[in-house]
Amino acid sequence: MTQTISVIRGDGIGPEIMDATLKVLDTMNLGLQYEFVDAGLAALESSGELIPQTTLDSIARNKIALKSPLTTPVGEGFTSINVTLRKKFDLYANVRPAKSFPNTKSRFPTGVDLITIRENTEGLYIGDGQTVSADGEIATSTSRVTHKGAERVVRYAFELAKRTGRRKVTIVHKANILKSTSGLFLKTAREVAAAYPEIECNEMIVDNTCMQLVMRPEQFDVIVTTNLFGDILSDLCAGLVGGLGLAPGANIGDDTAIFEAVHGSAPDIAGKGIANPCALLLAAAQMLDHLGLPDRATALREAIVHTLEAKDNLTPDLGGTGTTQSFAEAIAKRLV
Ligand code: NAI
Ligand code: MG
Repeated sequence: MTQTISVIRGDGIGPEIMDATLKVLDTMNLGLQYEFVDAGLAALESSGELIPQTTLDSIARNKIALKSPLTTPVGEGFTSINVTLRKKFDLYANVRPAKSFPNTKSRFPTGVDLITIRENTEGLYIGDGQTVSADGEIATSTSRVTHKGAERVVRYAFELAKRTGRRKVTIVHKANILKSTSGLFLKTAREVAAAYPEIECNEMIVDNTCMQLVMRPEQFDVIVTTNLFGDILSDLCAGLVGGLGLAPGANIGDDTAIFEAVHGSAPDIAGKGIANPCALLLAAAQMLDHLGLPDRATALREAIVHTLEAKDNLTPDLGGTGTTQSFAEAIAKRLV
């Protein structure tokens, strides 16, 4: 197989964790080719744009990208690069697995294995907000839910459950209060669920979901929800299993997908060589699943688990004294 991937090395710790990740992937002999393109501060400095057209063209051509965190400059009228990419490629499903790992500072070192699927293009994140009174003391934000938008993300959730042998999908909503928007999402989700009788489906109100996740996370399998709820719940789930250094995410559309670590560019540790590469490596595992290489994805995840179990060169965020590079090497040696 030869597959070309657009690779964005990113800002801050981005290049460090990307180089480590690509070294691990290279030991797997997957036949992947990398097309390096810029975005974020690195791109702004070299080309004057946060996302140069050449980067967009590369992603459009390859239909798959692996992306390190980017720094969006604060203020100065810059819109989030991540939001721009999601809109541009219509990446409607944000897929965030959260799984217990050994030897992290997690409250749940076992028992959690869930995936949050967040609608990624509409809801309260459409950017339609304004101050509506002359004195600046009243503001509104519009949420938009469409049948098409809800249908495709819920279908994605059920298809993923079916494909990966997961048993249950939980629809998370607030339709008791947000009767129009959350109501439409719930009604549409029920219609989709009816086409998958073999997969258990339940409904849960978002506030109760937060409590249930903290008390008994093992009851969840696949969660599907609207944009804002999914943003919050997926970070909560990352917190259940050891935090940002272990949280990957995928942004998936009908023909393009972008895989990334959930964390940011960590300017406080950038350049020190101690960033944990696991989140990006786990995102790369999601990418291998997407490329139809589930066995390779599993092998990569298992190598990470075995390295954590052995406490072999863990980075300081996990309580070790390893470096980004030595941790990645410890993972790589379990793959050959
Ligand atoms: P952050 O995730 O960069 O850092 C939060 C804390 O977690 C810091 O103490 C950092 O050192 C630590 N951390 C994060 N990733 C780590 C890793 N792999 N290994 C070890 N420790 C790690 O969040 P923050 O500080 O709020 O944002 C910094 C910059 O990142 C901002 O410019 C923000 O816009 C950007 N950002 C970019 C994202 C993306 O491109 N997907 C997502 C979130 C933030
Ligand atoms: Mg978020």
